[in-house]
Amino acid sequence: MRIKTRLIHGGIEGDPATGAVSVPIYQVSTYKQEAIGKHKGYEYSRTGNPTRHALETYIAELEGGARGFAFGSGMAALSTILSLFNKGDHLVVGDDVYGGTYRVITRVFSRLGLEATYVDTNDLQAVEAAVRPETKAIIMETPTNPLLKVNDISALSSIAKAKGLLLVVDNTFMTPYWQNPLDLGADIVFHSATKYLGGHSDVVAGLVVAKDAQLGEDLHFVQNAIGGVLGPQDSWLLLRGMKTLGVRMEEHEQNARTLAKWLAERSDIERVLYPGLSSHPGHELIQKQARGFGGMISFDVGSAERADQVLSKVKLYTLAESLGAVESLISVPARMTHASIPVERRAELGITEGLIRISVGIEDVEDLIEDLEQALS
Ligand SMILES: Cc1ncc(COP(=O)(O)O)c(C=O)c1O
Repeated sequence: MRIKTRLIHGGIEGDPATGAVSVPIYQVSTYKQEAIGKHKGYEYSRTGNPTRHALETYIAELEGGARGFAFGSGMAALSTILSLFNKGDHLVVGDDVYGGTYRVITRVFSRLGLEATYVDTNDLQAVEAAVRPETKAIIMETPTNPLLKVNDISALSSIAKAKGLLLVVDNTFMTPYWQNPLDLGADIVFHSATKYLGGHSDVVAGLVVAKDAQLGEDLHFVQNAIGGVLGPQDSWLLLRGMKTLGVRMEEHEQNARTLAKWLAERSDIERVLYPGLSSHPGHELIQKQARGFGGMISFDVGSAERADQVLSKVKLYTLAESLGAVESLISVPARMTHASIPVERRAELGITEGLIRISVGIEDVEDLIEDLEQALS
């Protein structure tokens, strides 16, 4: 089956008891046991819930892994992955990851004794050099947020395999519609499902998929032990949103390509970052490892003042954190999503005050261009 068909028919379809074509919302916390330990597969909804199970089966199939897990947010998903590790373990983490990823590692897990080194995951030698005897995993995103650098999943997986590490990939920006990190050698893939998977700015959720059954067992143990699970209503909402992932991603990308090209032709824009542009340094690589370029664009208007001017004048772009929804969202990473990264570090990375990030929605692209034109002028 091809991907759009799998998005419609993948996982658990409908309800065999009634013929309902959508999976019912099992709004339940506990399940009757006929005798102690004799039940129909569910005991308590933190451990397992049929609506969540349908979602977990669906994402595992879409990502090509052994087992999937759903959480109350992308950060809860990542925190569960990080809880696989022990005090004294060390991680190699991409230096351009989502600000919340950086924050939870440096300010929460570091207190529990988990160490991390941040490196440019584009620089394979730097990654290898950062590996220590106590290193357990490489954590990366591609394309990165907000600089849209493309990292080589297969090459990083070769390093991870040679050194006996897990490769953990945040696939939020691409989704399984465009990219399947597990097929390229990753061991764990995770998502802020709040973004493209949900797609409608109405649910906060996280998803994780383990490549093999043992890792799946380990993750299930931690998921159940910590308990940051996704509720049945939100699991259902996500199942519904994901059915249209294919058509939405195609539209996001088409609009993003058009907008990026238009921005790149303007003399008043300092740089445009979009992996779909042939001028982008990751353009070749992304075509090797993904089926598309995604719907995120970053561009530099030169100063914080000009960025403020654009933000105050746009009408169709909603000023908001987050991304991946049907409506176009605009943000200034330095002062919003990445504000938790220290100023000097942001400067080092190139997350400038004039950098604007757009999550391109699925409106008519002509309207998006006209609106940005008037805001820039
Ligand atoms: C790439 C990426 N990963 C993880 C997260 C965290 O997800 P959530 O906000 O669902 O907790 C985000 C949120 O913006 C993100 O953009």
